[in-house]
This record gives sequence, structure tokens and C-alpha cells, in this order.
Amino acid sequence: MYPIDLKGKKGVILGVANDRSIAWSIARVLGQAGARLALTYQGERLQERVTRLADTLEEAIVLPCDATDDDQIEALFQTVKQEFGDISFLVHSIAYANREDLAGNFSETGREGFRIALEISAYSLLPLVKHAAPLMTDGGSVLTMTFQASQKVYPGYNVMGTAKAALEHEIRQLAFEFGERGIRFNAISAGPLETLAARGIHGFMDMRRHHAEKAALKRNISADEVANTALFLCSDLSSGITGSVIPVDAGYHIMAI
Ligand SMILES: NC(=O)c1ccc[n+]([C@@H]2O[C@H](COP(=O)([O-])OP(=O)(O)OC[C@H]3O[C@@H](n4cnc5c(N)ncnc54)[C@H](O)[C@@H]3O)[C@@H](O)[C@H]2O)c1
Repeated sequence: MYPIDLKGKKGVILGVANDRSIAWSIARVLGQAGARLALTYQGERLQERVTRLADTLEEAIVLPCDATDDDQIEALFQTVKQEFGDISFLVHSIAYANREDLAGNFSETGREGFRIALEISAYSLLPLVKHAAPLMTDGGSVLTMTFQASQKVYPGYNVMGTAKAALEHEIRQLAFEFGERGIRFNAISAGPLETLAARGIHGFMDMRRHHAEKAALKRNISADEVANTALFLCSDLSSGITGSVIPVDAGYHIMAI
């Protein structure tokens, strides 16, 4: 048995694009712990790949959800309600910015690029929570993924840093709003991991090398370390934790030099 048992728990995970996605590591670990999962894919292009991954889990279902489309969000949770009845967790592991906005001068970010990055990477949590919360009849845990660029300057991260700052604020505001209903909200602030999204960030490999040199543990983190923290946060063992940003970064954030 897995060290934390999620048997009988059900939840939704958004953000699997391929087997390197942080969302996939989380799905694998939560699935192994006994949870029943609904995985989503963004656009038909990803359907087959996500379905193939989901087939390696027990009883997972796969549904479309583009987070910019309110109808798809509503349809997602309607199907989840039919299939699962209630849920106890939601994992939001999605982000997007136009490539040209992840390099160069931040001051030159266009209106549309700013809107897109903030809408997909931060706003999207709100409509998802609106539909997920009524299914969390016995409390629940909502988890999102952030990065330290919300607090400190990472050249090249630009508007995604703005989006992560907004996302971290949402976690606190939602933790307050849903606290009485026993629904908890937390973010994992992960160290750099080589994924599809990370590849779009200018200078990403140098950032990864720098993290490994400077971090207290003198190495980069693994996706499994993020997933194990997600397992804890989606379980009742973390019942006293809400509104928090939890760094899983090998101790990078404590270092001044
Ligand atoms: N990789 C890292 O170094 C790192 C570090 C800290 C935080 N994060 C965060 O982790 C999360 C997951 O990213 P990842 O690194 O696993 O990369 P990834 O590319 O595997 O995942 C990003 C996901 O966002 C989804 N997405 C983008 N636009 C969407 C939309 N409109 N609707 C629905 N889904 C959409 C993509 O389909 C994809 O599944 C992101 O929030 C990212 O910012 C990543």
C-alpha cells in the first residue's frame, strides 16, 4: 500500500499534456494511492496521448476541458457529477503565455498577451472552483502549481511572474471564501522541471543549473517530489493547511547567495 491511502477519494486533474507534465506525475501517484481520477485534455490534439496515459491507471476517465471555454468547464463537472457523484480534490496544473512574452522586455508585453497569460494561468482557477466546489460535499482540497517568479525576478519569466503572483493571491482569497465549507486551497511552488511549458522559457536550462548549484540540497527536484507533496495536500493528513504556498524546491528559496 502507498504511505498515504486515498481509496474512496475522487478528484479532477487538469494539465496533463504528456508523460513529463507535472499533472501526470501527480495523477500517477494519486492513482497508485487508490484515488479515482478524471483527467482532462486541452483540445483534440492531446486526447489520444492523455487517454493512453490514463489507461495505465485504474478506472480513470478522460474528458475535454479548455480552461478558456466556460461551456467546456460546465460540461466537465456535469460529467464528473454523473460519474463520481462527489469529489474531494481538484488539481489545477495549467499555465500558458505567448512565446514572445516569455523573453525580452517585460514593459513591451502587449495587452492581448497579458490577458491570455493571466486568463489561462490565473483566472481559470475561479470558474473551475465555482463548478468543483458544489461537488465537494464533505470538504475538499484544491491544489495549484506556482513558481518563485511570483516574488522575485527571473529574467525571461516576465508576464508569467505576474500571473503566478495573481494565482497565489487567489489561493488565499479562496481559502477564506470556502474555509467554512472545509474546502482547502494551496499552491506548490516547484523548482524548475523539464516539461513542455518550461521549454518555452528563455534561459530555462541555465536556470535549472543555477538552482541545482544554489539550492540547500545542492540539486534539482524531481517531479515525483512534487507529486508526493500533492498526495499529502490532497489527503486528510494536511487538514490544517490552507491558503499556503509550499515550496518544493530543494531549499532554493531560503538562500540569499
Ligand atoms: N516545469 C516547471 O519548471 C514548473 C515550475 C513551477 C511551476 N510550474 C507550473 O506547473 C504547471 C504545469 O506545467 P508543466 O511544467 O507540467 O508543463 P506542461 O506543459 O506539461 O503543462 C501545462 C499544461 O497546461 C495546459 N494548458 C495550457 N493552456 C490551457 C488551456 N487553455 N486550457 C486547459 N489547459 C491548458 C496544457 O495543455 C498542459 O497540459 C504550470 O502551472 C506551470 O507554470 C512548472
